[in-house]
Amino acid sequence: MTDQHAVAKGFESVYGTAPQVVWQAPGRVNVIGEHTDYNDGFMLPIALPHATRLAVALREDGVLRLHSAQSPDGSGVTELVLAELVPGSVPGWAGYPAGVVWALREAGHDVPGADLYFDSDVPVGAGLSSSAALECAVAAAYNDLCGLGMTPTQLALLSQHAENEFVGVPCGILDQLASSCCAEGMALFVDVRSIDPAEGRTRQVPLDLAGAGLVLLVIDTLVKHAHADGAYAERRRGCEKAAALLGLPALRDLPYADLDTALERLPEAGLRALVRHIVTEDARVERVTALLDAGELRAIGPLLTEGHASMRDDYRISCAETDLAVDTAVAAGALGARMTGGGFGGSIIALVEKDDADGVAAAVREAFAAQGWAEPRDFTVVPSAGARRLLP
Ligand code: GLA
Repeated sequence: MTDQHAVAKGFESVYGTAPQVVWQAPGRVNVIGEHTDYNDGFMLPIALPHATRLAVALREDGVLRLHSAQSPDGSGVTELVLAELVPGSVPGWAGYPAGVVWALREAGHDVPGADLYFDSDVPVGAGLSSSAALECAVAAAYNDLCGLGMTPTQLALLSQHAENEFVGVPCGILDQLASSCCAEGMALFVDVRSIDPAEGRTRQVPLDLAGAGLVLLVIDTLVKHAHADGAYAERRRGCEKAAALLGLPALRDLPYADLDTALERLPEAGLRALVRHIVTEDARVERVTALLDAGELRAIGPLLTEGHASMRDDYRISCAETDLAVDTAVAAGALGARMTGGGFGGSIIALVEKDDADGVAAAVREAFAAQGWAEPRDFTVVPSAGARRLLP
């Protein structure tokens, strides 16, 4: 893993001067609570040890320059003029950081241009929020350098706004909140109706996996099905339609106890299935959180697997690769497993006894080999810190 000094050196070799600060913002996995964010519901993400590191120096000439150590061409610098930034104007990965600078200016902060150097080890296209990591690193570094005084929650909202409006992705707040606000050793219980931690609803929940002799295994299927973006937007529209038909502001407002009667009022089987996933998923987040509060870590396993079945059968965002990975992990002894993130590929998480981790990962690799699929990538993760300054 690249450390902060290497990132500072990388900055110098591209821009010829030293950076003012180095920040990092992590990727995430969601323990439970999928597609609930845009239904005003509950989620429980952790931040990954994998992060985007960002070295920055402000500029006074209204220019934004961006370089990524992961750029395929190695040395390319994208140069943008702040005054010309408009939604949709910056293609590719640079749109995420540029969108954040645009959003800051839109929000009335007269921030200057900058030289930005990124170095990330968050796997891209794996459903682990590499784009939120880019956004949240830029938001946090600008907040710091320009003395904006924004809270991590406000920076997450601003980053989401950049992704929604500048990049044009209709995502919820899950990824950016996780990247900005998570804490080491903790999962973040999020109630989207009440994300300000001062209100006491959204809060850190201790998740000491190592202390319990457990491991959280991430298995990246390396698959991303092409229709994912359209299917995400379609699910979101379906939820909004169902809420409107039920006369509710959002599906979050449908109590679990009223689910069956509400389903009878919905005309289409497709809408009923969406509602069933969201309402049962919100309930699973609350149950998992209560179990973590009680220190009963192993007991969350079956709820994770149940959540996967709900995504597969009701929300229909799973795919053959994630289903096989989950089924194989559970059959090989995982306490529970589920796809994490938006769906249609990406990664699964499996909660396993420490001694079983290698066996579970090997079983999934073998199952993929038997299908003739590319070997998935696996690694274990611990709940890590949200965005933080590394230098000075
Ligand atoms: C993607 C989106 C999030 C959230 C998840 C599903 O990661 O960016 O806002 O909706 O999918 O839980």
